[in-house]
Amino acid sequence: MTDLAELLQAADRIVAFTGAGISTESGIPDFRSPGGVWTRYDPREFTFDRYVESADVRRKSWAMREELFAHRPAPNAAHRALARLEEAGRLSAVVTQNIDGLHQDAGSRTVIEIHGTMREVECIGLRPAYGTPDGCGFRQGTEWVFARLAAGEDDPRCPECGGIIKSATISFGQMMPAQAMDDAVQQAQDADLLLTIGSSLQVYPAADIPLIAKDAGARLAIVNREPTPLDGFADVVVHGSAGEILGAAVVS
Ligand code: APR
Repeated sequence: MTDLAELLQAADRIVAFTGAGISTESGIPDFRSPGGVWTRYDPREFTFDRYVESADVRRKSWAMREELFAHRPAPNAAHRALARLEEAGRLSAVVTQNIDGLHQDAGSRTVIEIHGTMREVECIGLRPAYGTPDGCGFRQGTEWVFARLAAGEDDPRCPECGGIIKSATISFGQMMPAQAMDDAVQQAQDADLLLTIGSSLQVYPAADIPLIAKDAGARLAIVNREPTPLDGFADVVVHGSAGEILGAAVVS
């Protein structure tokens, strides 16, 4: 069985595909592990349509965001290992499902955020439908909305058009960002190694990305604390902590 370090050594067009598990060692809970976000909040409450129709869901969403990010999480050894691989010219891109911005903080430059980012908020319009934001273009850093919440507004509205304000993330039932998905698919098709880290690989279309790379001829390595549905397709599967495994496998 080829091991992870050998696969990494032999590749020079690596694409990393990351999930919430790469950030747990930075103190951000993932979604489906014990104690994860979806064990404490009901995901059916956090769809795009529920967000549009319910001020209470919007209030809960802001509270969840503030809880997740209040302690200013920092990148960990796994994020830094990917930035080193890019620096060495061996990693082409990080495709991430994460919204925390920690890859950029670790120094990664080509980061494709297929589920958006919580570091910005945007106007999605007054009555967007069919999972499609219909905003006026207003977009600010997330601290803008936290300041409005701290000043006592519990459902901040767009100052330009009165539309609903939402974090620039992709909720269940929301259209995926077309350009980001196109870029992610292109990267996967060009990769010689697709390295998934810290994802349960249960959410589509995101979890198609590793399979697209494999179908296009790339090797597939999965690093995750527990088994995933794609383990059977992988050339290498390593179960354990992303920080330790990547930190050891990617010598500087
Ligand atoms: N090291 C390695 N793996 C870890 C670690 C760690 N330190 N911590 C957690 N994991 C693993 C868990 O075992 C789990 O299999 O990471 C995986 C995280 O899976 P999820 O919680 O399902 O997160 P993710 O795969 O990113 O979810 C995908 O679902 O709810 C949506 O939009 C949300 O982007 C998210 C998407």
